[in-house]
Amino acid sequence: MRVFAFALYSLALAVVFVAVASGAKADTAAGEASFKRACAACHNATAEGPRKMGPTMHAVVDRHVASVDGFKYSNAKREPDMKWSAENLDRYLANPREFMPGTTMAYAGMKSNSERANLIAYLKTLK
Ligand code: HEC
Repeated sequence: MRVFAFALYSLALAVVFVAVASGAKADTAAGEASFKRACAACHNATAEGPRKMGPTMHAVVDRHVASVDGFKYSNAKREPDMKWSAENLDRYLANPREFMPGTTMAYAGMKSNSERANLIAYLKTLK
């Protein structure tokens, strides 16, 4: 009986684990879909892809602001001594022009907290 209970317990744990793991995956998949819809027209996600209107988002998380070689940033971006931590990205993407007045990024902002969280989870995978 004990062995049976233990087996049931292990099975339950495995189910919970799979649910959590696939939940995390769903977030980055949703984030990738948001990226394609809202950002990919102006931003590449790879290190070697062609230059678009904005700098590549490859390895952007924890990258220093305005540090993609050869990209002509606005003064708004060149001034702050700051990294793109997940928290800064969250505030920037919610309202780019409020967080960084004068930025030339023509994007109004992503209002949904959960959509931004998924998007940033996806950006973390771009290494
Ligand atoms: C209409 C084009 C456009 C869209 C849409 C756009 N961006 Fe940008 N983005 C830019 C430009 C241009 C810059 C450089 C701005 C500057 O120098 O002030 C930039 C800069 C950035 C930076 C700073 C990069 C660095 O190296 O410091 C981040 C982060 C960023 N964008 C993320 C995003 C994300 C995520 C989305 C989608 C939600 C998005 N952008 C949508 C054009 C765009």
